[in-house]
Amino acid sequence: MSKERMLTGDRVTGKLHLGHYVGSLRNRIELQHRYESFILLADVQALTTHFENPAMIRDHLREIALDYLAAGIDPEASAIFVQSMIPEIAELTVYYSMFVTVNALRHNPTVKAESKDRGLDEMYYGFLGYPVSQAADITFCKAAVVPVGEDQLPHIELTRKIVRRFNELYRPVLVEPKALVGEMPRLVGTDGNAKMSKSLGNAIALDSAPEEVDYKIRKAVTDPARIRKNDPGHPDVCPIYAYHRAFRPEGEAEIREGCEKGLIGCTGCKQLAVTALERLLEPMRERRAHYAAKPKRVDEILLDGTSRARAIARETMREVREAMGIDYFDKV
Ligand code: TRP
Repeated sequence: MSKERMLTGDRVTGKLHLGHYVGSLRNRIELQHRYESFILLADVQALTTHFENPAMIRDHLREIALDYLAAGIDPEASAIFVQSMIPEIAELTVYYSMFVTVNALRHNPTVKAESKDRGLDEMYYGFLGYPVSQAADITFCKAAVVPVGEDQLPHIELTRKIVRRFNELYRPVLVEPKALVGEMPRLVGTDGNAKMSKSLGNAIALDSAPEEVDYKIRKAVTDPARIRKNDPGHPDVCPIYAYHRAFRPEGEAEIREGCEKGLIGCTGCKQLAVTALERLLEPMRERRAHYAAKPKRVDEILLDGTSRARAIARETMREVREAMGIDYFDKV
């Protein structure tokens, strides 16, 4: 029996950081051999917010590919591909958009939150519709599972609705995907903000140098109630505790107790967190250096992934056209 497919991806707007790793990347790496895996560099979706600066997207494309490879995505197991190079995704988006209402998109909580963050009083058509395009990203390869962060759940829900509607209107050719959310809660930023994000300046990038990791952890906020080392602490409000939980789970109970009883100071606790992060990041630096020295190899990986995705997209598109009865001629 052939494997089910897994698809996920990232907007090409900036380098990946620890929040991406905990939210989705770690899951992908663990699951990539269990499924036939596809990882999309969402450059078109990045354009919905950065159409004035496509050069920025271009600059980040290979950086994110390096982040994937460095983090442990195996290019044999996972097809890493470029969204804009799969025209069938754009084509599917058009067909799906016929039966998605503007209201459903307007009430999508993630779209709402993002447009509020951007402070625009009018929404662009492409931005409002990006969840439809995301449904096309997921369905072109009939993905069964989509590892994502929690904020993406409304998009997966919409995708499922689109699939059901399409299958019932025409013919059952599409597959309803399941979201796979990481076990860990979303990773907090070094400033204690609930979300680690590059734009908030509270992120630790996966390609950070050791000094940078050390500096950011040293500067990170901790429980404000702890002024002296033996003051009892509240790990649940401390980002450093969250990092212990995510990256050093074997020591979590000890850290909790040490903090709550004032037995371990913030400086010592931070040092342990740095060591745990280095355990994760050091092998990534090595793999990154390996691939960074071979830019041609990275391009080959992207081309190979894209052509694997494209072959499947062509096949799905053929089935979709046939189901809709818009396959007028065998060839043009
Ligand atoms: N919206 C996702 C993000 O902001 C990126 C993305 C685009 C995606 N297409 C996807 C995620 C398809 C999962 C599946 O990170």
